[in-house]
Amino acid sequence: MSQFLVDEAATIALAENLYNAMPENKAGWTVLLTGELGAGKSTFARAFIKFAGHIGPVPSPTYTLIEPYELPAGTIYHIDLYRVSDPEELRYLGWSELDCGFRLVEWPDRAPNLVADADLNVELHYDGDSRRASIHGLSERGSSLIKKIN
Ligand SMILES: Nc1ncnc2c1ncn2[C@@H]1O[C@H](COP(=O)(O)OP(=O)(O)OP(=O)(O)O)[C@@H](O)[C@H]1O
Ligand SMILES: [Mg+2]
Repeated sequence: MSQFLVDEAATIALAENLYNAMPENKAGWTVLLTGELGAGKSTFARAFIKFAGHIGPVPSPTYTLIEPYELPAGTIYHIDLYRVSDPEELRYLGWSELDCGFRLVEWPDRAPNLVADADLNVELHYDGDSRRASIHGLSERGSSLIKKIN
């Protein structure tokens, strides 16, 4: 599934569409956000988290690695692996315990092992001043969810 995102509002709308297409119980789901610096990964994550009911800022997890959000429909873990250079650093991340929530992961390529069982990859590319998103299913449930996004 590929979609042209003319401006930031379109990136936000795509995040909302994805949120709406997902099951109410998102525990155990992992969505990867890939794309170059400035492609719009955090814009997408921020919109998704706000749409899930979070009020207030959504700080970048670049230094903390994880920012958890306890929300009515469950916990969202916003994860940013940009600063991770050695997968050993992730030993204390407690990845498997995060299974009780929904994991939204920026820069997943820093830790390929961790994200081997992800459900979706939202790939953001530059397209002039705008962006283009390609969403790929990585699991069976992820692939069937894509069919619900228009
Ligand atoms: N569809 C779009 N068209 C044009 N600009 C966009 C679009 N979506 C987001 N942007 C803009 O791109 C800029 C960078 O966005 P963002 O910080 O979300 O990128 P990022 O992928 O998280 O970057 P980084 O890798 O540095 O963390 C922001 O100014 C944002 O408003
Ligand atoms: Mg970012």
